[in-house]
Amino acid sequence: MRSTVSGVGYNITRALTTLGHEVRFLSQVGADLAGEMVRQAMAASGTEVAGVLPTLQETPQSVILYAGAGQRQIHVDLKDAQERPYPPHLFTVALAPCELAVLCNVNWNRPFLPQARQAGKLVATDVHTIHELDDPYNRDFMAAAHILFMSNERLPCVPAEWAKRLQQRYGTPIIVIGLGQAGAMLAVLADECLVEIPAVYTRPVVNTIGAGDALFSAFLHSYLHTRDPYQALQTAVVFASYKIGAAGAAEGFLRANELAAWAQRQLPALPLGKFHA
Ligand SMILES: Nc1ncnc2c1ncn2[C@@H]1O[C@H](COP(=O)(O)OP(=O)(O)OP(=O)(O)O)[C@@H](O)[C@H]1O
Ligand SMILES: [Mg+2]
Repeated sequence: MRSTVSGVGYNITRALTTLGHEVRFLSQVGADLAGEMVRQAMAASGTEVAGVLPTLQETPQSVILYAGAGQRQIHVDLKDAQERPYPPHLFTVALAPCELAVLCNVNWNRPFLPQARQAGKLVATDVHTIHELDDPYNRDFMAAAHILFMSNERLPCVPAEWAKRLQQRYGTPIIVIGLGQAGAMLAVLADECLVEIPAVYTRPVVNTIGAGDALFSAFLHSYLHTRDPYQALQTAVVFASYKIGAAGAAEGFLRANELAAWAQRQLPALPLGKFHA
């Protein structure tokens, strides 16, 4: 049994920071013992704490059970996080110098979706275990995203069909669907192209918690540098594979130079299972 600090925003912040990016991390925790743990962990890892406000009644917590082969079962308690707004002026100040807004699908980000787009920023989000095209909770996130991630775990149809439906409904430029140990699927609207990238092996799997966040982070990292979504996803499966060799969701991230070295060793040649939609 271990207790670690994690959460989608924190995991992505740690991953992108480790990869060399400057991140303005905005979040909320409780003014409680768990919130103090978050602050200590952030300070110890050198994460900027200014945007993490002690404004919740309690800090959200989850219990993750994981088995020998790395499968995991997640129980999440968000406490009052979904009812609390994030101060708009702090978002506006944080957004200004940023190239990309990674808006996790927590409720307080909803008003920031149109704001980030109007400011001309690239918007990326992850809707996790989505299973409905018109999901009332997630549709604002899906409609606003230039880069949209999700898991295949609860899709109502095969991922290729789902990607096409999303493109027709929301006109999403870049869609990535995590396929677990099978890898990930990429749909690029402008190219009318669907690609499946297989998972790779870098080291033994300990816990797959945070695999999706790692894939998302490394994709963004590579995409910001290259603007090439195909290369970005090939790099991302390497980063995700290495990450799941660690137990915690915010641990096991490669630095940019380490990732580049692993990617050279692991990358299968392009085009891989590439076919037209
Ligand atoms: N058992 C595994 N072996 C190798 N790679 C894996 C394994 N599980 C996940 N991965 C890698 O991690 C990536 C993301 O995992 P996955 O598709 O499960 O994410 P997700 O379902 O979107 O999010 P979550 O982390 O909530 O499961 C995969 O695309 C794959 O590259
Ligand atoms: Mg998954």
